[in-house]
Amino acid sequence: MTPELIETSRAGLVDELVTRSFGYPSGRRFFEDFPVWGSGGVTRLGLIDQGKLISHVGIRTGDMQTSRGIERVALIGAVATDEKHRGRGFSSFLLQEAMRRIDASGCTWSLLWGSEHEFYGKQGFRLEGTQWRFLISDLSIPVSGLQSNPPLEGLNEKIWSDLLARKSGIRFLAGDRDWVFAHRSVRWLSFSNPFCYVAYERGMDLKHIVHETGGDPAGIQKLLYYLYLECPIAQIIGTQSDLERMGFKTADGYRENLCLARPLKKGSPWNPEFWVSGLSAC
Ligand SMILES: CC(C)(COP(=O)(O)OP(=O)(O)OC[C@H]1O[C@@H](n2cnc3c(N)ncnc32)[C@H](O)[C@@H]1OP(=O)(O)O)[C@@H](O)C(=O)NCCC(=O)NCCS
Repeated sequence: MTPELIETSRAGLVDELVTRSFGYPSGRRFFEDFPVWGSGGVTRLGLIDQGKLISHVGIRTGDMQTSRGIERVALIGAVATDEKHRGRGFSSFLLQEAMRRIDASGCTWSLLWGSEHEFYGKQGFRLEGTQWRFLISDLSIPVSGLQSNPPLEGLNEKIWSDLLARKSGIRFLAGDRDWVFAHRSVRWLSFSNPFCYVAYERGMDLKHIVHETGGDPAGIQKLLYYLYLECPIAQIIGTQSDLERMGFKTADGYRENLCLARPLKKGSPWNPEFWVSGLSAC
């Protein structure tokens, strides 16, 4: 029997399939790290076989902010096929269906994150963009000056307002509030005066990594130092200009690709301003 293509509103089924497929440790769930795929604004394409969800691809769209204005892009994630059904072309089929819908919607690029470059390459995805990665211990500032009182813990309204006001990367919208606050495995640290914050870790893929920062650069350095004392191998990822503003020197860092990406039209240029922070990457 051929599995049936569906668009499911039953997010719990997707969490179950993807949690199992990615081999999450017992008691942990995929949606704790990626609650966006359980939210209302996404499309969940699935294949059903004998009443069971056996394969899934998630699609959402986002406004990519650049100096030339906003470009609509698609973000793909929660790609998984149940172990018993792998190698039968199900993910490829769902990705092709996702691409058909994305192309019809006029998004200029589709972006995704994954180490299966060959698999995604067959669907037209290639490595694109730049992000920088540094060990916090390579901060070009004497650590002796960075001692501070313990920071505040947790995501709060002031941080959320700052995320909403960002002018680069994928724009956060008021409707994103629930899924952003729902992350279980992201640790937010902040100071209120002067205001600054960092977000640290998100599940397996951003372990020991700072992936969001905002506010006063000197305060951010103190927050980074606080994390470094807890975890000497802690890292930070971001854009070159943001990280230089925080006191990192590019000679100490690693330049890497931002994501796997597929253009709507073959040959359409990648805009080097495109940026996706860890929270929006899925
Ligand atoms: C990766 C995954 C989604 C592939 O699902 P699938 O339904 O088995 O994929 P398909 O049958 O469509 O495979 C398409 C092709 O990619 C290849 N492929 C599949 N998984 C691959 C992997 N992990 N690495 C490299 N190639 C892979 C297949 O061999 C096949 O090649 P072919 O066309 O030459 O025969 C599935 O293995 C899975 O759920 N893995 C765990 C979760 C995961 O890693 N998700 C993706 C990361 S975001």
